[in-house]
Amino acid sequence: MSGVYPSNLHGYDVKTNKSRYHNARLRVQDAQKSKSDDVGTAKIESSPPTNKKLISILVVMTVVTWGLATTAYFGVVDYKAILNLGSRDTEPVVESKAETDQVVEADKPKVEAPKTSTKSDSGEKAAKDPGEVTKKKKPKTLSDEDKRILSEIKIGEKLLQQKKGEKAWKFFKDLTKTNPDCPKAKYLEGKAAEMTASQQRSNPMIGLAIEAFSTAVQMKNCPKELKKLSLTAKSENEGFLGRMKPALETQRTLARLYPKDVSILNKLGVRFLMLGKNSAAKKVYQEVLRLAPNDGFALVHMGFIVKQEGSWEEAIPLLKKGTDSNEPGTQEGKFYFHLGDALHRTNRTAEAKAVYEQGAERGLFRSKYQRSLYNVERLTGKPFWTPEEAGVKEYVRRLESNWKSIRDEALSVMDMEKGLFLLEEESLKDTGEWRQFTLFARGHRDENNCRRVPKTCSIIERMPNARGCRRGQVKFSVMMPGTHVWPHTGPTNCRLRMHLGLVIPRTGSGARLACAGEMRTWTEGKVLIFDDSFEHEVWQEAESFRLILIVDIWHPELTEQEKKTLTSI
Ligand code: OGA
Ligand code: MN
Repeated sequence: MSGVYPSNLHGYDVKTNKSRYHNARLRVQDAQKSKSDDVGTAKIESSPPTNKKLISILVVMTVVTWGLATTAYFGVVDYKAILNLGSRDTEPVVESKAETDQVVEADKPKVEAPKTSTKSDSGEKAAKDPGEVTKKKKPKTLSDEDKRILSEIKIGEKLLQQKKGEKAWKFFKDLTKTNPDCPKAKYLEGKAAEMTASQQRSNPMIGLAIEAFSTAVQMKNCPKELKKLSLTAKSENEGFLGRMKPALETQRTLARLYPKDVSILNKLGVRFLMLGKNSAAKKVYQEVLRLAPNDGFALVHMGFIVKQEGSWEEAIPLLKKGTDSNEPGTQEGKFYFHLGDALHRTNRTAEAKAVYEQGAERGLFRSKYQRSLYNVERLTGKPFWTPEEAGVKEYVRRLESNWKSIRDEALSVMDMEKGLFLLEEESLKDTGEWRQFTLFARGHRDENNCRRVPKTCSIIERMPNARGCRRGQVKFSVMMPGTHVWPHTGPTNCRLRMHLGLVIPRTGSGARLACAGEMRTWTEGKVLIFDDSFEHEVWQEAESFRLILIVDIWHPELTEQEKKTLTSI
């Protein structure tokens, strides 16, 4: 997880799905203090795509004229293989890391527990919605066996309606014990467990809900519609517990059962993305766009994937059409973020600006320049900070008075084995060469690297707001002449970034950094402090390398409690 720009904006964010009831109390407090610290995946999870109507011929025709870029994706679809177990997808699964994050860390519960429906869905005899114009026949969810105990089922449903979770759960548990062949009752036992879990913030209870859904699905007499409900609930609950692989498998089973259900496929795509299986997700969205070419949710996700692949031109119409659709799940910072970035990188700067402004107007960004997606809302945001303002006068004094030994250590690792400095990997670079040597990342010390630069690491060790900054890094950054770094934005407003100038060439046009449009340069032995959640861009136009030490520190307005509980980035 090295680099300036954590992977959450590059890969699909898995971190934000940490919604299990872990550290529940802290997270509730967090949520009250700051509305959003997770603008990533969370919303997708909590507002799944709505069911789409069948496409009409008109819609198909619109899309045919809409552009070659999209039709290109309708080519070879190896979609069936995706639905089968033993996927041929070869991309690495990053689950273990995500899981660790989820277990250890606490964050805003933007992702809510899967909702327990309080509406009676006992099926056939349910009251009609008075606003409903067309009287569609409600699909069957009751087996013959369930019908025999319908009056009991209704009693239990009433308890659910009254939000008496535990009572309902006990009721259905007894009911299914004496009637083990009633899938609807079993499903409702699961719903009751789910409600109890959310009321008691209990993870084991979610486990019981999952078991009940699973049992219901496996019953021979389980009606297809009930299988759909159970599998949907099962996958959501598995995802909620951070069990991403089972959640994917359940969603895949669901998609095999309903291969043309756009809403199910859209969620399947997200499940793949959350496991880093972008190419599998891509095939799913290709299929959705074949079935429903205007589906906003599929468009933004396809655009996101294509943008990650580096196809900026192709990503633009997808992201644009998707965000313009305003459909649920499309109004997310990350889609505006990548649309703006793709526009900027293809020289459509005016349009990029407009997208950023629109994102800010819609509350997806803090401002057109400050586009971090993991924010504590109340924190002051401005591009440049003085040491006093940042509360790091003492840190700055120590860095500046030791700058020569820090520089010499950096040079020694550069000289000895250049291979120690790793290439920036987050496709932020336009031209040239930019390498980094990381000492601390997400609050973890890199023992191997610190052994090579012990003085620098020991200086940092005595700076708790840097050493413990789990939303940042400490690293040397070397940039070769001819390097241009695209305008980019860090992931969070919870850190400020100190740059200590170590080797700053003054030849040619020099090296410089612009943050929120304001140009600065470095001075050897001096610290520059900026907030990298604001858009910044770097040019290296000198004739020899430029070397700095980057030290991230917690934003001075964070409380000690927040520093302990915010998720790592
Ligand atoms: C940063 C950054 C570029 C550099 O610190 O966020 O983009 O010059 N730095 O190392
Ligand atoms: Mn940066």
